[in-house]
Amino acid sequence: MTDPIVRITEARKAFPLPDGSRLAAVDGVSLEAEPGTAVSLTGPSGSGKSTLLHLIGAIERLDSGSIVVAGQDIGKLSRKALAGYRRTVGFVFQRFHLLPALTALDNVLAPVLPFRTAFDKQERARELLKVVGLDDRAAALPSQLSGGQQQRVAIARALVNEPRLLLADEPTGNLDSRTGTAIMDLLLTLRDERGTTVMVATHDPGIAERCDAALHLRDGRLR
Ligand SMILES: Nc1ncnc2c1ncn2[C@@H]1O[C@H](COP(=O)(O)OP(=O)(O)O)[C@@H](O)[C@H]1O
Ligand SMILES: [Mg+2]
Repeated sequence: MTDPIVRITEARKAFPLPDGSRLAAVDGVSLEAEPGTAVSLTGPSGSGKSTLLHLIGAIERLDSGSIVVAGQDIGKLSRKALAGYRRTVGFVFQRFHLLPALTALDNVLAPVLPFRTAFDKQERARELLKVVGLDDRAAALPSQLSGGQQQRVAIARALVNEPRLLLADEPTGNLDSRTGTAIMDLLLTLRDERGTTVMVATHDPGIAERCDAALHLRDGRLR
């Protein structure tokens, strides 16, 4: 057995409500994800899928429990180490979140632009646009691209730091089913060709079915 790339033990996260009580968004979740696998995360709206992905990506901090990614306990990282950790995880969102004034190429470059890198940034960004099948649209603005193409740019951007872990939060939620299938094809190709671990929150049972492991959340707990 290989070590899991993600090991979560009794993770909890609650949000304060206006009435002073707290809502347990993630309520004692334990799970493991094997490296190079695709894991689906399904569950009704409000069941905690996004919160769980945000905890794994260290966008949100845990209240209690632990999350170990590639051997690092992310709850124990300093602020500075956390910023470094976040750059090793790729995030893909339902609404793409591209910067509207930047070209496809510059959107892919954006996460690495402020940093000194050991690789040629332009070259890496061009390569990634090729990986997602958009090398001919490098100069296009998001508004000139279809939804599926925008999501491809967002996936290329998520890959710019060569993450071992890609977290996708309803990546096909804004796409028609054919385009959504093509986006899922792409995520599974990344798993197969790069060994990227993909965790994908989805409402689509067809997408969940294509993953290697399926997790179902309800009221912040795995069912
Ligand atoms: N920043 C936040 N502040 C307050 N409540 C939140 C916040 N984020 C999520 N929640 C609540 O936590 C629960 C889980 O939300 P979420 O993780 O977004 O679920 P899902 O992605 O499965 O729809 C919901 O009840 C949601 O309203
Ligand atoms: Mg969500």
